[in-house]
Amino acid sequence: MVKTEFRFRPIGVVHSPFKTKEDIDPRRNLNPHGFSRIKAELEIFKPYARGLKDVDGFSHLIVLFAFHQSRQKKLLVKPPLEARWRGVFSTRSPHRPNPIGLTVVRLLGRRGNILAVSGADMLDGTPILDLKPYTRREIKRSVELGWLNRRRRSGRSGRVLSLPPASLRDPSLSKNPENRPSEARRTATD
Ligand SMILES: C[S@@+](CC[C@H](N)C(=O)[O-])C[C@H]1O[C@@H](n2cnc3c(N)ncnc32)[C@H](O)[C@@H]1O
Repeated sequence: MVKTEFRFRPIGVVHSPFKTKEDIDPRRNLNPHGFSRIKAELEIFKPYARGLKDVDGFSHLIVLFAFHQSRQKKLLVKPPLEARWRGVFSTRSPHRPNPIGLTVVRLLGRRGNILAVSGADMLDGTPILDLKPYTRREIKRSVELGWLNRRRRSGRSGRVLSLPPASLRDPSLSKNPENRPSEARRTATD
């Protein structure tokens, strides 16, 4: 019989500087490097610690986690600083039918069952569901950003601003290979 319901047990917990949602400036979410300097620790619970064998060689990890403080499940959401409603599956909103988050972090070091990372956008106490290595398979060469490309947002003054094309905001998205940062530079900053 095919399973139709799933229960997940956290394998660990995030220790981050963001104690409440208000500690996170939503403008960070607009910047590809908005969280790159945010350091956190991923504590992997002892019964799962053996599974960390061999993670040390990877520069980045994919963290799958539960948006445990999200109380709403929505199909249309208004992302921060966005005037229009968007389909939840075209956003990174925490308010989704299955409240699962995904963040790529840089692995800075490991002390037993504790991973020191940077690039965390999760709240302190966030339950970790899974870890996977970030591999070359995840690096896509040609990326289209849908409504984010056409995004219009209001500044504090209420003025409506247009953002430049994604390739100007993030040179790694440039169609011209000469404008893209080298792999080494990209991983050094993220
Ligand atoms: C835009 S989401 C992106 C999260 C992840 N990178 C993703 O793409 O799934 C980041 C926001 O989720 C919220 N958040 C982070 N951890 C959360 C948690 N454990 N429960 C509920 N909301 C959380 C914070 O407000 C944060 O600004």
